[in-house]
Amino acid sequence: MLKLTVLVSGGGTNLQAIIDAVNDGRIQNAGIVRVISSKDNVKALDRAHNAGIETRVISKRSFDLTEDFNRALISAIDEPGTDLIVLAGFLTVLPPELVRKYENRIINIHPSLIPSFCGVGFYGLKVHEEALRRGVRITGATVHFVDEGCDSGPIILQKAVNVLPGDTPEILQHRVMEEAEWKILPEAINLIAGGRVRVDNGKVLIGKAEEK
Ligand code: GRF
Repeated sequence: MLKLTVLVSGGGTNLQAIIDAVNDGRIQNAGIVRVISSKDNVKALDRAHNAGIETRVISKRSFDLTEDFNRALISAIDEPGTDLIVLAGFLTVLPPELVRKYENRIINIHPSLIPSFCGVGFYGLKVHEEALRRGVRITGATVHFVDEGCDSGPIILQKAVNVLPGDTPEILQHRVMEEAEWKILPEAINLIAGGRVRVDNGKVLIGKAEEK
């Protein structure tokens, strides 16, 4: 079984999508061993507690030194024997040594079709505000491996979502979550747990399902 540690900062709807997919069998061969939040008192922690999943709060602000925060985060991830780190709305920059240690074993969900509307400063509602400002007709979400850049790692899955007349950033954010994020994040985890994802020359190759 692939041991997942999910990192969160807020609402935790993507965490919920993973919990539901593990429970109903859309994710096989994987389970969440720990949820780590960068903030206390967030809904994501309630969702983890309700599902009986162990939690930790590791907030950068409660450490004087970045090195101490880095060490605490890395050991909280190492401790349960994590195979795959899932960033599900985690708003803190990861320590570079963590990214190196877990090369091709960290995935992130981003609420746009990378390489549009991504990189430094593109997070949360800002992504959708920019998409609406630019007037794109199609946006979406991307699951990608995390490398040392910002939203620059190999792309695993993407799903397109229509922008509709009258959309506000909030309405568009919700449509992108419902139609794309909550589907492709569990799907990507299931593909990885099934041993079907490989990174070759900076690009992801997805293998065929094993015959049963
Ligand atoms: C999502 O839009 C995700 O794409 C982004 O942060 C948001 C997290 O939402 N990285 P939630 O906490 O999963 O509800």
